[in-house]
Amino acid sequence: MGRAFNFSAGPAVMPEAVLHQAASEMLNWHGSGMSVMEMSHRGKEFISIYEQAEADLRELLAVPAHFKILFMQGGGLAENAIVPLNLSQGGAMDFVLTGSWSQKSLKEAGKYGTARVAATAQPDDFTTLPSPATWQIGADSRYVHICGNETIHGVEFHELPDLKALGCDAPLVVDFSSHVASRPVDWSRVGLAFGGAQKNLGPAGLTLVIVREDLIGHALPHCPSAFDYKLVADNQSMYNTPPTYSIYIAGLVFQWLKKMAALPPWSSATSSRRSCCTTFSTAPACSKTVSPKTAARA
Ligand SMILES: Cc1ncc(COP(=O)(O)O)c(C=O)c1O
Repeated sequence: MGRAFNFSAGPAVMPEAVLHQAASEMLNWHGSGMSVMEMSHRGKEFISIYEQAEADLRELLAVPAHFKILFMQGGGLAENAIVPLNLSQGGAMDFVLTGSWSQKSLKEAGKYGTARVAATAQPDDFTTLPSPATWQIGADSRYVHICGNETIHGVEFHELPDLKALGCDAPLVVDFSSHVASRPVDWSRVGLAFGGAQKNLGPAGLTLVIVREDLIGHALPHCPSAFDYKLVADNQSMYNTPPTYSIYIAGLVFQWLKKMAALPPWSSATSSRRSCCTTFSTAPACSKTVSPKTAARA
């Protein structure tokens, strides 16, 4: 049908099966007489869509019970502000600079507290990852931020750092915008992970935040209510109107991924695709981790 080969970093290609299903359900979802985008977010139909999506994502990413999954808005860039508003408690935060996205995170966090550089690969033009053993993390650190995959500079953590092994009790914050669901996550090393859905898991408009429960409930007084993780969590991500249609489509992608038999097969499909992209392309955006969505075409 003349579909393009779409290697955009995001919004990116969707599984065709999901697009077909959404098209067939467009005017009348499961006999409700409504499109999903016409439903009340408080009605039983949408609540069932939301709960299924959350459960499927929890299963796909093996998210432990003591983590909350929040469906938010504003994208990765908004989280650069929302994370310090919720986790900094007015103290200091440490950033590992591995490319332009972590640089942006550092700059934004500086508006809400003391944002420090724990390590930087800038002298190497962001072609390397500083070894965790060399990171300078303050004893008073409220959290340590990394970008799991630097979409522009093309540098990716293949293994998350073990902060505890470095003698650091601060939680690790991971921007997983461009490689979420392309590999398993070791949640024992993570305090919070965030990312927009649009690269790997669905349409733009949905931001995923997966956060350890004990980190919730410490927002700064001037944190906007709609961005206070406690209010969002206590209201099942419906303190304000959530991005209902994006959640629905992402939910279909989660179901499609479950049918595809989960992470290991994607990983091999996606890593061979990634090496193809990085070997043959000079366009920086192509150095991104290829997503489960693009694996649909692999
Ligand atoms: C690693 C990373 N973080 C953050 C962002 C910004 O995300 P958003 O456009 O959802 O705000 C991007 C977007 O490309 C990204 O690749």
